[in-house]
Order: sequence, then structure tokens, then C-alpha cells
Amino acid sequence: NAELPGRGLKITLTAGPTQEPLDPVRYLSNHSSGKMGFALAQAAAELGAKVHLIAGPVQLSTPPGVQRVDVVTAQEMLESCQQLQAQTDIFIACAAVADYRVESIADQKIKKQPGQQEMLLKLVENPDILATLATSQSSRPFCVGFAAETQAVEDYARRKLEKKNLDAIIANDVSDTRIGFGSDHNQVTFIYREKGEFYQEALPLASKIDLSRQLLLKIFKLYSKQDLT
Ligand code: C5P
Repeated sequence: NAELPGRGLKITLTAGPTQEPLDPVRYLSNHSSGKMGFALAQAAAELGAKVHLIAGPVQLSTPPGVQRVDVVTAQEMLESCQQLQAQTDIFIACAAVADYRVESIADQKIKKQPGQQEMLLKLVENPDILATLATSQSSRPFCVGFAAETQAVEDYARRKLEKKNLDAIIANDVSDTRIGFGSDHNQVTFIYREKGEFYQEALPLASKIDLSRQLLLKIFKLYSKQDLT
């Protein structure tokens, strides 16, 4: 359908948590459900875009028309995003990427030693996938991030937008228990930069699919404006 606003756009999204293995049977992870990223992928496909969804381990089915790539670790997620980067117009990072991974993964199950009361795990920093794409020198996509904060939400989100060199950021207050992790609803503020100025728009509480459509229309509009400059 030529009338669809996302037609001709190539969108890559990340969603869900990452899992960082300690040994063959254990991992570090978080409670991200992946719902917001999957809702955005569904809405983007419905709006006519060509959508790749890079998903961490989640219990969700692939939305119709979406090309899904399953990954486990942050490093795998970064590699998949970089493989798609040259064919990505808009990159939207929804994944709750583990900030750290264990320095070396044990190749056998780690055994509890007799009398052992403590255990130290050495962690090393994971790559920041969004910042890596947003600061790349060639084929940098239009970059949109999420900021889940518990206080001074807009303020922290704006700083994150600058620090990671983003075009826009979607901020939500995760201290509000009605919304966020695992929920089917969300309440967000859309913050973006245009000609050096910041703008922010608070959207009303809505279902994640409804919100996704609204957010994508705003993102498409911003993206098409910057294309003209
Ligand atoms: O810094 P913080 O984790 O709060 O930033 C959140 C944003 O950055 C989200 O869009 C998230 O998907 C992205 N991110 C990422 N890679 C990381 C950490 C965060 O892409 N290692």
C-alpha cells in the first residue's frame, strides 16, 4: 500500500533482555519482557516498514511481516545490529542489555566447594549497542533510545540523548508500578533534538501497541525532516 507512512523505510529494533552466561547452566539477566520492542516492531510492519527485530530470550511470538533474529548475549546483539547497520534507516533500541558480563565463562558447571560461603564473580563491561551505532563514522542510522528512570526522568533522559549522540529518546518512569516492565501499558515522554534545540512531548497512558503507532509516526516525521537538510 503506497499510502502507508512507513513504506520504503528500513527499521532495526532490539528487544528483550540479554543473557550473560556464567557456565553451561547459569546466567545473569533481567526481567525485561520484550513487549515494548515487539509492539514497536508489529506497529512498524503494519505501517509498511521493512522490519528486523533483534530479540534477546523472550516468550513472545514474532509479529506478522517482521524478520526476527534471536540472540542471547549483548555481544551477539551488537554483532547482529552491525550486520544490519548498512541497511538500516532507523535504529530503535528497546532491549534491556546487561551492562556487564562475566570475564570468562566456565566451560564446565561451577561446583560449590566444601565449606564455601562466598563466591566472587569478575564482571567486565558490555558494549553499549545504541551508542556504538549512534557514534559510528559511516552509515550511521537515525537513532532512537529508551530511558527507564525512577527520578528526574526527563532530565536524565535528555542527558542520555546527548551522551549517546541520539536523535530521540523515549523516557518512562519505571517507579510507576502501573506501567513498564511486563505491563501491556506504558506512559512515556518523547524527547528529541532538532537544530540544536530539545523538545519534549508527554504522551498519555496507552497500550504498548497504541503508543508504538504514535511514537513511530513522530519518529518517521523527524526522520523525513532531517533527510531534507
Ligand atoms: O544507559 P541506559 O542503559 O539507561 O540506556 C538505555 C538505552 O540504551 C536503551 O535504548 C537501551 O536499549 C540502550 N542500550 C544498549 N546497549 C547497552 C545498554 C543500553 O543498546 N549496553
